[in-house]
Amino acid sequence: MTAQGPKRGRFISLEGGEGVGKSTQVCALAQALQKRGLDVLITREPGGSDGAEKIRELLLAGGADRWSAKTEALLFAAARADHFERTIGPALSEGRWVISDRFVDSSLAYQGGAGGLGIEKVRELNAMAIESGFPDRTLILLLDEGGERARVRDSDGSDRIGGRGADYHHKVELAFRMIAAEEPERVKLVDASGAPQAVTERLLDAIQDLLP
Ligand code: TYD
Repeated sequence: MTAQGPKRGRFISLEGGEGVGKSTQVCALAQALQKRGLDVLITREPGGSDGAEKIRELLLAGGADRWSAKTEALLFAAARADHFERTIGPALSEGRWVISDRFVDSSLAYQGGAGGLGIEKVRELNAMAIESGFPDRTLILLLDEGGERARVRDSDGSDRIGGRGADYHHKVELAFRMIAAEEPERVKLVDASGAPQAVTERLLDAIQDLLP
């Protein structure tokens, strides 16, 4: 603690297509950081604050064409603005570490890359929503058999976006790879194959330079 209050915490987002084991790894990474004595907050998108959880229902329920691509991107950005203002920003100011299951890069990849709006346009839209609140590190999990795993997991029905076709999800993955190539300092690709513990080790390696 300094005279100005606690040191700002770190913000990490986990990203990836469907079925890559992201939620398991969010919990495992949080536990690993807690073991190192860090105060960790887990959150998720869409959602993570009262208002954003309400917007989540609008985004994920209903027919595939309930929203146009542009409206969908604006709703995600509106949810994100509330999530950042109410949950993430305050936790970072208190010196906590925040791990978010998806954040802005999901919008860049899904709405920008796969939805056809373009990564840059969606980045501009989101810069207004979160200002300088980009994560300190974004870890994108990649797994070849992710699509197949998601189909088995969601066989009783997936949400509006997860349920889109293989072509859409292929474009999501290409966009994630493009974002990582554009911002190699912030965004790292992580192999999600093999035992969960091995994947967690890879994630820890990819944030090694941020650890106290
Ligand atoms: P969710 O139930 O949280 O699934 P997952 O386990 O895949 O994270 O559903 C979120 C869905 O919303 C998922 O298909 C990805 C999509 N999404 C976007 O299209 N844009 C975004 O900005 C975010 C945060 C999620």
